[in-house]
Amino acid sequence: MEKRAFIKSYGCQMNVYDATRMADQLRASGYDVVDEQEGADLVLLNTCHIREKAAEKVYSELGRLKGAVGAAGAPVMIGVAGCVAQAEGEEIIRRQPRVDFVVGPQAYHHLPDLIAKAGAGAKPVATELDEDKFEHLARPSRRAVTARGVTAFLTVQEGCDKFCSFCVVPYTRGAEVSRPVAEVMEEAVQLVDAGVREITLLGQNVNAYHGGDGKGGTASLADLVGRLAALDGLARIRFTTSHPNDMGEDLIAAHRDEPKLMPYLHLPVQAGSDRILKAMNRKHTAGSYAALIARIRDARPDLALSGDFIVGFPGETDADFEATMALVEEVKYASAYSFKYSPRPGTPAAGREDQVPADVASERLQRLQALLTAQQKEFNLGLVGRRVPVLIEKPGRREGQVVGRSPYLQPVHIPASAGAVGDMVEVDITAAEGNSLFGEVAPERSAAA
Ligand code: SAH
Ligand code: SF4
Ligand code: F3S
Repeated sequence: MEKRAFIKSYGCQMNVYDATRMADQLRASGYDVVDEQEGADLVLLNTCHIREKAAEKVYSELGRLKGAVGAAGAPVMIGVAGCVAQAEGEEIIRRQPRVDFVVGPQAYHHLPDLIAKAGAGAKPVATELDEDKFEHLARPSRRAVTARGVTAFLTVQEGCDKFCSFCVVPYTRGAEVSRPVAEVMEEAVQLVDAGVREITLLGQNVNAYHGGDGKGGTASLADLVGRLAALDGLARIRFTTSHPNDMGEDLIAAHRDEPKLMPYLHLPVQAGSDRILKAMNRKHTAGSYAALIARIRDARPDLALSGDFIVGFPGETDADFEATMALVEEVKYASAYSFKYSPRPGTPAAGREDQVPADVASERLQRLQALLTAQQKEFNLGLVGRRVPVLIEKPGRREGQVVGRSPYLQPVHIPASAGAVGDMVEVDITAAEGNSLFGEVAPERSAAA
């Protein structure tokens, strides 16, 4: 009987993408990859190390998995992948001896070998960062791509050289590396051929992309967007996550000139106080960020902005926090993620003695989230009465409905008669609720291809 594998992912979109690549690799070595743990012979936890809570979740999940058995009644093989695997390596097996192997994000092409070794009773740990896994990973079949739907992630850049003083990513994902243009284009063509209509380019610092162009030079993210836009079946292009200091003029211009590039930008600022930004090693100020936003909005006035914020960074005073609130008031976000600072082992900020008390940080987080939620609501309500193109992605939760997304990334619920999955339809937005929009298909649907 074919063995079954189940991959459970935590963390960011990079992990979601990696999970697809690991699934392809496992299929190539004879596994059936299933979407629930029940009956799986191999369980792979694809972990996140960004905040303490995320990392601790892994150990409670491992505790839960300890006694699990596979289809044939044998104990499941347990693998730990992702950023906790990279950060903690061997330590994971010490803390939870039921773990059979550990594999860091740059070593996924070794999966078949690790599984074989683990099956023979060894407890292999693969955390080397020096190889290009993409060169060695199995390609997905056309069927696998089609089954994943009409939108897809495509990692074009990995790792980070920025070393913000709170962040583990430079340690868990290694140095910044861009995939060559030809390799990215080949993968994109394969996705589009299998029916993908929207591609989101991924990188921890995606706008710093500088992939080799095969002629001795490098291509910027804007160049890459231009090349992708030339693919006929591809309707939409997005990218995430960006750093303010890598937002080149050509990329800003692409937001003005390239209709396939969606008017949505995730551009984290983290804090609004220059003193804190300096301590975070962000290398930009609140003022330079606001000025950058103004230039981007000049190029693309309807652009929806999203961001990340950390409250309670060591040494953050009430006045510093008010500066974050003021920046949010000034910029106005369509959506945002905000977090309480979490000290991470090995990062410079974790060792500081001026940590902010938990109750102060909680109170600040509540105030910030209330403001961001109000801004999101305002942005969504602003779309009611307007007509927007929607890419239909899947059947809705309710019978007779389908769900797609607006250019600004909100889910839009529309009648199923509007069209099929993969269609682009013009929708009149009639209501906004939470993060969702509702709409009717415009009478003369000028279905843009
Ligand atoms: N590369 C991206 C995002 C990295 S992690 C960037 O530079 O923006 C995603 C978000 O998690 C960060 O933007 C930050 O807001 C948050 N984060 C990272 N480390 C954190 C920590 N130690 N405590 C709390 N939040 C953190
Ligand atoms: Fe982390 Fe900063 Fe790099 Fe983003 S830019 S991944 S926050 S170190
Ligand atoms: Fe988490 Fe690693 Fe992504 S730490 S946020 S899974 S890069």
